[in-house]
Amino acid sequence: MRTPIIAGNWKLNKTVDEALGLAKALKEQLNDLKNVEIIVAPPFTALAPLAEALKDSPILLAGQNCYPAEGAYTGEISPTLLRDVGCRAVIIGHSERRHLFAETDEFINQKIKAALAAGLRVIFCIGETLTERNENRTFEVLESQTRNGLSGLDSASMNRLTVAYEPVWAIGTGQTASNEQAQEAHHFIRELLGNLFDSSVAENTRILYGGSVKPENIDGLICQADIDGALVGGASLKAGDFIRIARFKQ
Ligand code: G3P
Repeated sequence: MRTPIIAGNWKLNKTVDEALGLAKALKEQLNDLKNVEIIVAPPFTALAPLAEALKDSPILLAGQNCYPAEGAYTGEISPTLLRDVGCRAVIIGHSERRHLFAETDEFINQKIKAALAAGLRVIFCIGETLTERNENRTFEVLESQTRNGLSGLDSASMNRLTVAYEPVWAIGTGQTASNEQAQEAHHFIRELLGNLFDSSVAENTRILYGGSVKPENIDGLICQADIDGALVGGASLKAGDFIRIARFKQ
């Protein structure tokens, strides 16, 4: 049985005061939640205040990105410094990093290895563009991103890795993948993990769906056999919406 994860990617939103207000609401409203892992990924500036605010809460903190080294890398942040500030996880390979900041599979692979080496859990994002889907290349793209992103990892390190399938055409558009589209992609990814690693990795790796997850569609998505939670963007910025998503009905 895979414990579901509901993660909020706040992206470049929320001042520290706004972030503290949202975190306080989530802490109050979700403290009794059982058998669901809640992760929030605020902007870097809010990590330290939220680590303090959430220290007696089961809600886990995540970074939204990291750089796979330390030292003379102006403007970057390392997995070690994320852990030092209170993060337990980090999102890597988000489509916005891939498409806005030209991050390659190889660079993402370096980041994953550095984050795991620093003791963080990784939420590894993959997903096809609308063009790739329309050209019937979805599985080809997902396989390439997964093979290259996870290159050199062993089954043991996969214990701390969660995959997030985020079709690029569903991110921020309000056009969520259908339950069937999402399940099909998740099933493909799970089978691929079995081929790349072993059946235990395939069975135990959580695969989250991301891309316009809302209170209205979470229940239909999460009841799919291979969907183990959600990586939520816009709806994670509103306490009521994120709480309803976290309290999904199975
Ligand atoms: O990482 C999650 C994000 O990309 C999804 O954004 O606004 O479509 O839920 P949104």
